Amino acid sequence: KETKDQLIIDAGQKHFGATMCKSCGMIYAASNPEDELQHVQHHHRFVEGIKYTGWKKERVVAEFWDGKIVLVLPRDPSYAIRKVEDVQELVDNELGFQQVVPKYPNKTKTLLFISDEKKVVGCLIAEPIKQAFRVLSEPTGPETPSSKECQRAWQCSDVPEPAVCGISRIWVFRLKRRKRIARRLVDTLRNCFMFGCFLSTNEIAFSDPTPDGKLFATKYCNT
Ligand code: ACO
Ligand code: ZN
Repeated sequence: KETKDQLIIDAGQKHFGATMCKSCGMIYAASNPEDELQHVQHHHRFVEGIKYTGWKKERVVAEFWDGKIVLVLPRDPSYAIRKVEDVQELVDNELGFQQVVPKYPNKTKTLLFISDEKKVVGCLIAEPIKQAFRVLSEPTGPETPSSKECQRAWQCSDVPEPAVCGISRIWVFRLKRRKRIARRLVDTLRNCFMFGCFLSTNEIAFSDPTPDGKLFATKYCNT
């Protein structure tokens, strides 16, 4: 059962305005069949997760008791790329990015964490970078929920520091969070991003982190 919040004032028309689904968070125009369809698709993926039935040629780069990590590269078969695009769409909807799914850039590396139930429960998208800017620590004070919610624009240093690998997306299926899936994705990335070396935490950078992303990154880089 979903309830909907009216976000735009009804100007008289029957189904005017945008609606936000309280279960999946998507904002869409219920009066627009195309939007409605997109919502139904997103809603389903959000609730059910994305299935992964296995590929004949899959690149398993790590295995665990509760799942495995598969690496997808730009020249992989289209079914693999399509799976990555599906996951990215779900992630971007959740992070509130507008749909700009570009063609798979040719230096991108994607890691998918596949659970034992054959679902994609984690995703990490990385690309080579040359430099990054350190996020400056926030003014200290009690961590109030509102400051966590509002502060998306972190203050960054203007001194570039050399880096090798940028993480443009990291995401874990909401029911599987805090099980070290993100940590295992980053560990695996450090090992397989550049052949023959294990990247240090100084060589990786998180782009535009969300509050969740920043909490994770801070913890990860200090341990
Ligand atoms: N609050 C506080 N600490 C956290 C949080 C959090 N929400 N998430 C992770 N941590 C810290 C904890 O110390 C945790 O260890 P612990 O559970 O033993 O205390 C440690 O990081 C490792 O966490 P993992 O279990 O490996 O992280 P998880 O698998 O839950 O994934 C992630 C973290 C990816 C941020 C997840 O919360 C998520 O998908 N959030 C929504 C999407 C998102 O915001 N992604 C980041 C966008 S930024 C970017 O893509 C560059
Ligand atoms: Zn929904």
